[in-house]
Amino acid sequence: MCGIVGYVGAENSADVLLDGLKRLEYRGYDSAGVAVHVGGNIQIRRAVGKLRNLEKSLRESPLVGGVGIGHTRWATHGRPTEVNAHPHIAGPVAVVHNGIIENHLALRKELVAKGCTISSDTDTELVAHLVHLEVDAGKDLESAVRATLERLEGAYAIAVLSEKEPGKIVVAKHSSPLVLGVGEGATYCASDIPALLPYTNEMIFLEDGEMAVLDETVRITDREGKTIEREAQRIDWSPVMAEKAGYKHFMLKEIFEQPRALEDTLRGRLDRENGDINSDEIGLTDEDAKAIKRVIFLACGTSNHAAMTGRYLVESLARVPTLLELASEFRGRDAVVGEGDLVVAVSQSGETLDTLIAAKEAKAKGAKVLSIANVIGSAIPRMADAVFYTHAGPEIGVASTKCFSTQCANILMFSIWLGRRRGTLDENRAKELVEGLARIPQLMGDVLQGTRQLCANLARRYVNARDVLFLGRGLSYPIALEGALKLKEISYIHAEGYAAGEMKHGPIALIDSSVPVIVLAPHDSSYERSLSNLQEAKAREAQVIAIATEGDEEAREVSHDMIEIPRVLEELTPFLTVVPCQLYSYYVADFKGTDVDQPRNLAKTVTVE
Ligand code: G6P
Repeated sequence: MCGIVGYVGAENSADVLLDGLKRLEYRGYDSAGVAVHVGGNIQIRRAVGKLRNLEKSLRESPLVGGVGIGHTRWATHGRPTEVNAHPHIAGPVAVVHNGIIENHLALRKELVAKGCTISSDTDTELVAHLVHLEVDAGKDLESAVRATLERLEGAYAIAVLSEKEPGKIVVAKHSSPLVLGVGEGATYCASDIPALLPYTNEMIFLEDGEMAVLDETVRITDREGKTIEREAQRIDWSPVMAEKAGYKHFMLKEIFEQPRALEDTLRGRLDRENGDINSDEIGLTDEDAKAIKRVIFLACGTSNHAAMTGRYLVESLARVPTLLELASEFRGRDAVVGEGDLVVAVSQSGETLDTLIAAKEAKAKGAKVLSIANVIGSAIPRMADAVFYTHAGPEIGVASTKCFSTQCANILMFSIWLGRRRGTLDENRAKELVEGLARIPQLMGDVLQGTRQLCANLARRYVNARDVLFLGRGLSYPIALEGALKLKEISYIHAEGYAAGEMKHGPIALIDSSVPVIVLAPHDSSYERSLSNLQEAKAREAQVIAIATEGDEEAREVSHDMIEIPRVLEELTPFLTVVPCQLYSYYVADFKGTDVDQPRNLAKTVTVE
């Protein structure tokens, strides 16, 4: 997730761009840049880190001109360095981009073969070169961009300048957002409404597959160049509402962003035809996969719960002995680890100190380290032998939600990849899993819409509960832990996640009529036993809430309330069962009036002992 902005008008464009980027900083903040038409040339300024660094560079060395594009980056390809920061230049062309180009490896090869010098690790620079080649072949900017789009697979919102056509910006969109603004003698584009609100309330939303040329006016076309007439709409949001896209809290916005975050994370990685995972970027060879004797997952907090799904999945799909260790307990205890071990360090930030130190210790003893991280170029990916990034975009709510589900996606993809290479997962079964995973974003969207109201109602009913129990078996056990963690993090209610089979060994003593017990009982290999847990809890007068498969009358009978999720393969249930847990926790906290996005005593990234 990145933010782009563009301006054509009489003001000094660098000021408008910087101001717009400030309002888009929530979409990414590892580097930023602008490109402005100055005289007959395009000039750029780029800087690593927060926007204030770019601001400083522009103060020291201003760009004066009325047409420009800007970008704030959340790295997906290549580390957050100045060279990788947007805009990217090729010949007379400058490009900013939000999204992920799936076929970037093939395009890079092709462009290198044609003699292009590619200076960054980004997918975006390839777009700039493609447009440049078309311009060199005699096309005007609009046609050059149109021809380039034919070559791109994946998601993009792009804004393009050319030195040869100084008064205009050409933009295009597929899957990533782009809104156009129409002001007094000025036109704008941006990834999101907040960037434009101080300048105009008249906005036009570009649809997938559409392009537009911005000069004194806005002209929208389809891919064939046919003009599309669309009236501007008046948007009267306050800037604060706009930043959270109308949601009350970032956490709720991020819960609802999960289908999009998953799509971005899965993009280009699922090989549906062969039932496999495209793994070029992971950096582990087939030989590496075969040589692994043991997998050890290391993580903290929510990432530890995602990692726990890995313990089940790697064992069942790849038949490799698998351990799960809290990084804080692994480090410093001189664990038995070494050659033949693959340590999978799971961390949203890639900076959690315990996970970093634990992974370094394992590496020093001869283990290979695979990092699953969301922040490109952070400390753990840098020290790891191999990296498999999630593409959730920046997560602002301290309680992790979309990063958790994208971590689960990477862990499942890694397990399929490993199973295929070790011959433990046959093609048909892998195809089923890959197909099923491809459908998850859509199903998750359905569950979000379908369960939101019921979760809010239940949260209202149990807002004053003193204790809450979450129970689950198998792949629902990590989700029970995650549900309990979410609730305690943001509502400060005592919540326990328990392996349902352990209920009789302790937590059952807590149960009385004041305790809500949330039992995860999807149709899976433990279903019958989960049903018994529901019955046992109900018999002790607990307030029983089942999260079960739609149409499950047995579960409905033995619970007070049932939250329904669609039937999916067992391996995919975590993506759907976690949604009601997140929503329930969110609404309890909201009704209690706690600080949902910044709960007391917690930090987003823990880089201390
Ligand atoms: C903190 C955050 C959690 C996160 C944990 C691990 O406690 O509040 O949301 O799960 O750190 O962070 P990591 O960045 O390593 O996933």
